[in-house]
Amino acid sequence: MVYQNILLETKDRISILTVNRPDKRNALNQPTRDEIVHALDTLRSSTDSRVLIVTGAGDKAFIAGADINEFEGRTSLTQRDAMKGLRLFDAVEEFPKPVIAMINGFCLGGGLEVALACDLRFASENAKLGQPEINLGIIPGGGGTQRLTRLVGEGKSMELILTGDLIDAAHAKEIGLVNDVYAVNELRDRVYALAARIAEKSPIALRMAKEAVKTAARTNLREGLSRETDLFCLTFGSQDKEEGVRAFLEKRKPDFKGL
Ligand code: COA
Repeated sequence: MVYQNILLETKDRISILTVNRPDKRNALNQPTRDEIVHALDTLRSSTDSRVLIVTGAGDKAFIAGADINEFEGRTSLTQRDAMKGLRLFDAVEEFPKPVIAMINGFCLGGGLEVALACDLRFASENAKLGQPEINLGIIPGGGGTQRLTRLVGEGKSMELILTGDLIDAAHAKEIGLVNDVYAVNELRDRVYALAARIAEKSPIALRMAKEAVKTAARTNLREGLSRETDLFCLTFGSQDKEEGVRAFLEKRKPDFKGL
């Protein structure tokens, strides 16, 4: 597939997916959503790619939300039909490798919902985040009411969703919405450095770790602990576990092959 709306590059085990509609503040129209889902499907089984970074093209926006042009004239039923099939947000969340949102500007509506579906979020100092759907007479529909609430708690989530107000990166860090904030010219290097450290780990252990942590928000403690035990024991079936343990005992750096 030749992509028209995204850029995809993999180097040194790190993939970067850039939403590439800077003139439209990287707003997500249907073709863009389809291309992202397709790209995720391609990267899923690629052994060259161990960590994915998602970002937006240009210096203004990560993703400024769903493309509002697509909403005009839509009825409840046509909107429901448009939302059938694999949702972009679920595809990001279920992706079996770590996904990092590199938030380089406006991160609004569906853009924040993409970031919320990622595993880690880092923002530039000039980033602005919010769920402004209420200003259009609608509500978040890409998981915002659920994932935002789980991440920052009901009070802060209500505030953002009911007011539609945008918050700056420092505030987002304060409420736990982003992991950290960096100067504009440092964001890329800092995120790549972190991605490189994660890319050195066992891809199998990363996958199990991600699934185990995700389970916490999806079930009760007893079931979650039981799932953790299963996933923990599954890692013992990997050659990477032997390599990791042996490397520690031999006082050397492990070389994880993903086997
Ligand atoms: N959908 C469609 N087009 C969008 C868009 C969106 N979500 N966000 C920005 N654009 C378009 C604008 O319409 C404009 O297009 P034009 O040049 O053809 O007129 C272009 O991107 C630049 O936007 P502009 O508003 O001029 O840029 P800005 O830097 O002054 O403001 C935002 C940026 C993101 C604050 C502003 O565009 C905005 O509020 N966008 C909508 C955000 C939103 O409500 N998202 C939730 C959608 S459910």
